[in-house]
Amino acid sequence: MTRNFYHDVLVIGSGAAGMTLALQLAGRYSVALLTKGDLTAGSTWNAQGGIAAVSEADDSFTAHIRDTLTAGAGLCHRDLVAFTVERGPEAIAWLIEQGVEFSRDADGAHHLTREGGHSHRRILHAADATGRAISGALAERVTEHPGIEVFQQHLVVDLTTQADAGSRHLRCNGAYVLDAATGEVCLLQARTVVLATGGASKAYLYTTNPDGASGDGIAVAWRRGCRVANMEFNQFHPTCLFHPSAKSFLISEALRGEGAHLQLPDGTRFMPGFHPDAELAPRDIVARAIDHEIKRLGADCVYLDIRHKPLAFIEEHFPTLRAQCLAFGIDIARQRIPVVPAAHYTCGGILTDTRGRTDLKHLYAVGECAFTGLHGANRLASNSLLECVVFATAAAADIAAVLPDIPVPSFTKPWDASRVTSSDEDVVISHNWDEVRRFMWDYVGIVRTRKRLERAQHRVQLLQREIHEYYSNYRVSRDLLELRNLAMAAELIIRSALLRKESRGLHFTLDYPDQSVIAKDTILVPMNFANQELIVDKLD
Ligand code: FAD
Ligand code: SIN
Repeated sequence: MTRNFYHDVLVIGSGAAGMTLALQLAGRYSVALLTKGDLTAGSTWNAQGGIAAVSEADDSFTAHIRDTLTAGAGLCHRDLVAFTVERGPEAIAWLIEQGVEFSRDADGAHHLTREGGHSHRRILHAADATGRAISGALAERVTEHPGIEVFQQHLVVDLTTQADAGSRHLRCNGAYVLDAATGEVCLLQARTVVLATGGASKAYLYTTNPDGASGDGIAVAWRRGCRVANMEFNQFHPTCLFHPSAKSFLISEALRGEGAHLQLPDGTRFMPGFHPDAELAPRDIVARAIDHEIKRLGADCVYLDIRHKPLAFIEEHFPTLRAQCLAFGIDIARQRIPVVPAAHYTCGGILTDTRGRTDLKHLYAVGECAFTGLHGANRLASNSLLECVVFATAAAADIAAVLPDIPVPSFTKPWDASRVTSSDEDVVISHNWDEVRRFMWDYVGIVRTRKRLERAQHRVQLLQREIHEYYSNYRVSRDLLELRNLAMAAELIIRSALLRKESRGLHFTLDYPDQSVIAKDTILVPMNFANQELIVDKLD
């Protein structure tokens, strides 16, 4: 018999977005918080550089808005940018209230660091492990809160919906969820469901992201009829450690913010030749410049050099990076750091409004899985954690206001596993995982062409058919569910990239090297579009 749970709100994902939202609703409503790993799984824990917010008199909202718009290459929604930036100080105050400790100067004021594309020092940080400070503090609050029931090692399989009498709309009323420890699929019902599942950068062979970044929420929402937008804008971080035994280790942009230089293998500094802001140019430009130099020279990597800074400074600002690099035999105070670009952030996602509402009634999306219009064609560094807190707060306020009028979910069909068997060929899953990630890297990477994209599209469609067959015949497992979602996210990225007939921000194609005069979002509409009554598209 399927286990069945009921809560007012089901939050899927326990990163900065999910935990913020859960904490803001707990106490008023019963909340289930789901994570496919432990509470601190997800990109949030790994964040290094910090969180951007205006906090000094010589900085201004106008400057932060301008920097975000510039990095976004003409595609950010200005109103959304202002909405986010103006709520920055409030978001920081809320995090501090939860116990997050940001680094301070000797005089007690918060130390502000700088990253690419920022015209001011405005990044609050906890040394070089900001994500740990945020994730750790929020996880502590969540754990001690009696109003939040946490489900760890539980993966959403698909959302459930119902049609209310007299309504043409389907509404979201919960999710089928795999308990990864037992293999059982249970039903979690709720009046409101929130996707906060993070990004899809695991679709690429080389990434800074943890293993779970398989685009689950994006795929789940798409399957239930929600539009997704701007999936072609996958951000490649310029500096991931290049080392045979280092898996996904980011070298924070804050190093460049504090003066580190990028060099060719022979020691030549090359960024001034690419952009007036050199190492602090927006991320898409730095990543493309590195890619260009690596290909031009046939080199394995380029180098980041911070050796000119005093040891005490490096130890104070970058203790985690220093220790991690030392573990790989690199002393950043004495040696240059070998680096390459790697997939880092999904700028597109599930289309939402300022309250986090999606096309499916009572389904919200917040954090990296959502598309709000903030990042445009390239996210400004350290704006993501800010977006997580700002939009989770806005969504929590909306849910708190509307929830009393939402009826309790009615009967949903239990999960039916009577026609599937256990797989005896899991090698199919691991093979397909590798295949998706490899062709995405080779054909849908930093520099694209129509021919490469079409090749990738052909491959992903074949794989999806194979995965569908596998999914229909065998019991679900974590690897199978993630592969199914990853292939779906990859397909959405490729489709979006094929639709964009220009180069802009993170999307660079040799077939259309110029930027169009008109900036337009790429919006994909699913066949089973949930919001049939949508009359005016907010993005048109
Ligand atoms: P995540 O923190 O990724 O959390 C996702 C959650 O969803 C996890 O709990 C996961 O278990 C859960 N989940 C996923 N799928 C399922 C499923 N099927 N079922 C159940 N649960 C599921 N941004 C900044 O602003 N500043 C930085 O300094 C910064 N540094 C970064 C450094 C690194 C190495 C990385 C990878 C990213 C960095 N970013 C940074 C980006 C930022 O960390 C992320 O965009 C942000 O943390 C995303 O938060 P989130 O809450 O949306 O998702
Ligand atoms: C970094 O520390 O370089 C990551 C910052 C970000 O992704 O915003």
